[in-house]
Amino acid sequence: MQDVASVPLDELDIVGPATYAADGYPHAAWARLRREDPVHWVERGIDRPFWAITKHADLIWLSRQPKAFLNGPRLAVFPDFTNEPNSNGDDPFARHLLNMDPPDHAAFRKVTAFRFTPRTVKRLLPSVESITKELLDEAAAGGETRDGDFVSLFAAKLPLIVLADLLGVPREDWDQMFRWTNRTIGSTDPEFQDTGEAGDAANEARNALFQYFWELAEKRRASPRDDLVSVIANAKIEGEHLPPLELLSYYFLLVVAGNETTRNALSGGLLALLENPAELEKLRANRALVDPAVEEILRWTSPVIQFCRTATDDVELRGKKIRAGDNLCLFYPSANRDEEVFPDGDAFRVDRQPNPHLAFGIGEHFCLGANLARMDVAFRHLVARLEHVELAGEVERLRSSFVGGIKRVPIRYRLSA
Ligand code: HEM
Repeated sequence: MQDVASVPLDELDIVGPATYAADGYPHAAWARLRREDPVHWVERGIDRPFWAITKHADLIWLSRQPKAFLNGPRLAVFPDFTNEPNSNGDDPFARHLLNMDPPDHAAFRKVTAFRFTPRTVKRLLPSVESITKELLDEAAAGGETRDGDFVSLFAAKLPLIVLADLLGVPREDWDQMFRWTNRTIGSTDPEFQDTGEAGDAANEARNALFQYFWELAEKRRASPRDDLVSVIANAKIEGEHLPPLELLSYYFLLVVAGNETTRNALSGGLLALLENPAELEKLRANRALVDPAVEEILRWTSPVIQFCRTATDDVELRGKKIRAGDNLCLFYPSANRDEEVFPDGDAFRVDRQPNPHLAFGIGEHFCLGANLARMDVAFRHLVARLEHVELAGEVERLRSSFVGGIKRVPIRYRLSA
């Protein structure tokens, strides 16, 4: 582990996947950057340099100017995707909301936005509720005390099933979809690199997902249903169906963006409650705290670690001269611990209010699935049924500095039958 207090600022490791696997999020390094150099130039010699943005106010300022700070040129810092010295590691074979900019972005977002409003998402609640109950019944196994991994028992399954249901993916294909998604996002983790190099595993998985959705979209064009695959397959922008790359990237984005993130919020949320037993007790004693607790879990886990923006013009930020073409990397978990916004931000408090966290981002690209991703139903049922829970082994973290992942949370638990 780095001695964060004494290394020169330029040597702080804030994007190396191995650091995340070994130590979790580099909160001490971010805290130092927020204090000493909140707009910090990072030059690693292995990829294009970038400005590390660590303050809450700066993330908001940048995200609210989608024409001045673009998503397209560089989506994020993807350290292991390429060994090319000046590459930004991006994927040229995907074109979706996250790497689109005005004016295209708004037109493409409109295609599905109506399916993610609070009112529409509310209609899904009975289905989310029954999936949650089914998974908990299975895990409860008659109410005995058991050992198990919370991720594979629950956290990995729930978001996938909810998404597959929303998209209209047939049940027999869910397992396969889950494997492809895993490889795509966790592709810098050796566990998912069973097909060779890190990039290869991700590419193969993405191609398989593309092929799958291509065939499903064709079926839904021929006979549409009331599902998202049909909505996207039949959508028209300026009178034309979405071109193949944009069509497939849309499905790809929804599967990937909604899956790993929500899974990690669930597993990270349980872990936070286990590590803060007084908070778990507070929540058990007062279920009205589930809503603020979910917001605190989102702030605390911040599953999305970073996205980039690229400046279109020269601009100054906190005295630093940003030049046109420079990349700025927005660190969401750092903003969510900013001491100027969150008093005692290193403490996990289920009753924290107000809680203006940025786990879903802000502005033009604000998370489309945010209403779906607030897993209040899941936590409400979980807290109500958990009679006993304790950590029963080592927590394993994903080797990724893009989406913060927990691969395993071994627990000893008893759920009421
Ligand atoms: C806890 C779970 C989740 C977290 C932490 C999360 C976080 C984020 C973040 C940080 C962004 C970028 C925001 C920005 O640049 O300002 C984003 C965008 C997005 N998210 Fe989520 N997300 C989650 C769940 C979901 C779910 C369940 C879905 C879909 C079903 C989803 C779909 C999307 C899409 C489509 C975008 C791109 C929006 C755009 O560029 O206009 N996310 N999300």
